[in-house]
Amino acid sequence: MHIHRLEKIWIGFGVAMLVVFLSVIGISAFAMGMDPPTGHSHGMDPAKVDSTAPFDKPGLKQVGENEYEAVMTAFAFGYAPDNMEIPAGATVHFTITSKDVIHGFQIPGTNVNMMVLPGEINHLTHTFDKPGTYLVLCNEYCGGAHEWMKTTIIVK
Ligand code: CUA
Repeated sequence: MHIHRLEKIWIGFGVAMLVVFLSVIGISAFAMGMDPPTGHSHGMDPAKVDSTAPFDKPGLKQVGENEYEAVMTAFAFGYAPDNMEIPAGATVHFTITSKDVIHGFQIPGTNVNMMVLPGEINHLTHTFDKPGTYLVLCNEYCGGAHEWMKTTIIVK
């Protein structure tokens, strides 16, 4: 009788530990569910980029005397808007995201070089002092036509 009661206590203790253990796993799984890997505060579903402001209307907007905001999207295999034109000396604040896979955004001859992740918004500011045609290249392998993925920024 004595031993039997002790066993009962131990079994009860074991069951209690199991319940605690399972609820800890459950809580962690729930917490992870609340914060999925893409759940960065800037994140969005890449498929919804086209319908999410400001990326529903990619374009160049003047925000200061010679200061612009360029809202851009990258996709296989190009950028929108294509071939932007700005005055010499313009400071451009790029805001860019990808509609599909990882792309790059590099302007050779400048320090502009960033990764463009699907659904993640990336920012970079650059002042284009010298007039000319600046090539914008994708430097992340993104598929068959990766090598031809480019646009230009014309500074005059
Ligand atoms: Cu886009 Cu390589």
